[in-house]
Amino acid sequence: MPYEALQCALRAAPRTWLVTGAAGFIGSNLLQTLLELDQRVVGLDNFATGHQRNLDEVESAVGAQRWARLRFIRGDIRELNDCRSACAGVDLVLHQAALGSVPRSLADPLATNAVNVDGFLNMLVAARDAKVGRFVYAASSSTYGDHPALPKVEDLIGAPLSPYAVTKYVNELYADVFGRSYGLKSIGLRYFNVFGPRQDPEGAYAAVIPKWIAAMIEGRPVQIYGDGKTSRDFCFVANAVQANLLAACADRDDALNQVYNVAVGDRTSLNELFELLRENLAPAHPHLRDARPAYGEFRPGDVQHSQADITKAAQRLGYRPSHRVAQGLAQAMPWYTWHAARATTR
Ligand SMILES: NC(=O)c1ccc[n+]([C@@H]2O[C@H](COP(=O)([O-])OP(=O)(O)OC[C@H]3O[C@@H](n4cnc5c(N)ncnc54)[C@H](O)[C@@H]3O)[C@@H](O)[C@H]2O)c1
Repeated sequence: MPYEALQCALRAAPRTWLVTGAAGFIGSNLLQTLLELDQRVVGLDNFATGHQRNLDEVESAVGAQRWARLRFIRGDIRELNDCRSACAGVDLVLHQAALGSVPRSLADPLATNAVNVDGFLNMLVAARDAKVGRFVYAASSSTYGDHPALPKVEDLIGAPLSPYAVTKYVNELYADVFGRSYGLKSIGLRYFNVFGPRQDPEGAYAAVIPKWIAAMIEGRPVQIYGDGKTSRDFCFVANAVQANLLAACADRDDALNQVYNVAVGDRTSLNELFELLRENLAPAHPHLRDARPAYGEFRPGDVQHSQADITKAAQRLGYRPSHRVAQGLAQAMPWYTWHAARATTR
């Protein structure tokens, strides 16, 4: 079903959704869209990397009436009972909770494994026992590892390059086995560098776009690891939200128990990204007119190039990305600048 028709169908017949990681970046964007579509939502988060301010922003965006359709649970996916409470009475699960970041996983592989593997398995068991209709989960482009092929096609993966990549691949293996063994209907979405409002600009493990924007606004140097030719398929969060809703409601047999690339199909180098951000920010921040990035060593665990083939998601899910990188940046920029201004006045 096309995305617009799906949105109308959901409004007409609301369902009950569980969003794990609801206080995080992608989770809070899913939460907002679902509440705007008048759905009933259970949110689960332990605020490990998510923030109450993300929930507050969603509340003010959707208004009190829709916000009342959310049941929020402060809980931890490493606790099976928390997963069971969250899955009770739920039709569809969008599992986003995890510890992201390749460098974090290299610094502390045990913590990443505990959440991303043990926690994931708890969620699968809870979803199976609650007999949910669909289990959609956040997989990752890091699963392509050292495979050189470009663009990335779902079946051709290489060896993982980080503990984080191992955990995300294990998620796919477990979801597949739960399909074969228990009939759990799952779909894994391999996100490629998602960006947009509410992506955390702070902390050692911040993603490149919010980190650079905060640095540029504050006049700090932007550090590029490598020569800047490293490239990514940057994906605006609205595209990821669309993929989740389509996956949750897909009814073709060949769509289920599969993994899909979620991206745009474009490739932007870090040098090009820097220029795009500079162009967007320079009018309001004249000190950026002649800004240049600083170059340093390549970072261990990073893949050099990443670009998705999105044919499979287009054919089986009806996925049509609504935003390319420049459109997404233009839409997200007011949030980034507002957030940066708020951060400096705190
Ligand atoms: N952002 C990207 O570019 C990207 C790319 C590939 C995959 N992913 C995956 O997408 C998902 C969402 O990522 P995000 O960018 O929104 O990150 P995020 O850190 O903003 O969100 C993750 C959320 O999960 C919560 N969480 C962490 N551990 C938890 C636990 N033990 N119990 C309950 N909640 C817990 C955090 O508090 C946070 O709110 C993750 O699974 C991530 O691995 C993201």
